Amino acid sequence: MNLTLKIWRQKDASSKGQMVDYTVTDISEHMSFLEMMDVLNEQLVNSGEEPVAFDHDCREGICGMCSMYINGEAHGPDRGVTTCQLHMRMFKDGDTITIEPFRAAAFPVIKDLVVDRMAFERIQQAGGYISVNTSGNTQDANSIPISKHAADEAMDAATCIGCGACVATCKNSSAMLFVGAKVSQYALLPQGQVEASDRVLNMVAQMDLEGFGNCTNTGACEIECPKGISLENIARMNRELMKASYK
Ligand code: SF4
Ligand code: FES
Repeated sequence: MNLTLKIWRQKDASSKGQMVDYTVTDISEHMSFLEMMDVLNEQLVNSGEEPVAFDHDCREGICGMCSMYINGEAHGPDRGVTTCQLHMRMFKDGDTITIEPFRAAAFPVIKDLVVDRMAFERIQQAGGYISVNTSGNTQDANSIPISKHAADEAMDAATCIGCGACVATCKNSSAMLFVGAKVSQYALLPQGQVEASDRVLNMVAQMDLEGFGNCTNTGACEIECPKGISLENIARMNRELMKASYK
């Protein structure tokens, strides 16, 4: 496949960015999107140009680093996949592909397609954990009965990889799907109950402090989430917040 790429180039956080056109040739339909970007970067390096900066780590849908907005969709046109899992067979020979960073005030662009997602880390630090005695007296998790339904729902919530596609997709740049998942994975389990009130109050307060928008129930986040995180997690977070606020 031969493709035209329109890519957002931005030298650093304080520079003004712009879309720049590139062409890549002989792209195999079996390549991943990031492999196609590697081909472009090799081409740029060989011609003495600055390669396009983009985030990536695991390249198998686990780390959530590969944040790209492709043809107007977070992680591109496929469903249930991250950019690193997106295959070039989703495109046709001669296509023009637009590639931008995830855009949200709380995710400032650092360079080209790389955004600063530390806001998510700060929300996690505010309460996305449980305190466990690790001195050797930790209770065996298997000795605490948990219903299959609760275990399954907690596991589903815990599959959130913190990629930020929900924020990038949302017209309000809301982080409620992410925070809802992180609150839910503990709220559903007995181990999460002790710190439940502080957790939800602190995580939601940090989310607001970071400048994420509110949820207006559009549901775009759920559609674009590569891990299929359900809107039910936002409803659960709101219930947890209500309970904690009245305590
Ligand atoms: S909820 Fe989905 S889209 Fe949002 S950060 Fe988690 S995995 Fe990514
Ligand atoms: S590079 Fe890790 S999820 Fe894409």
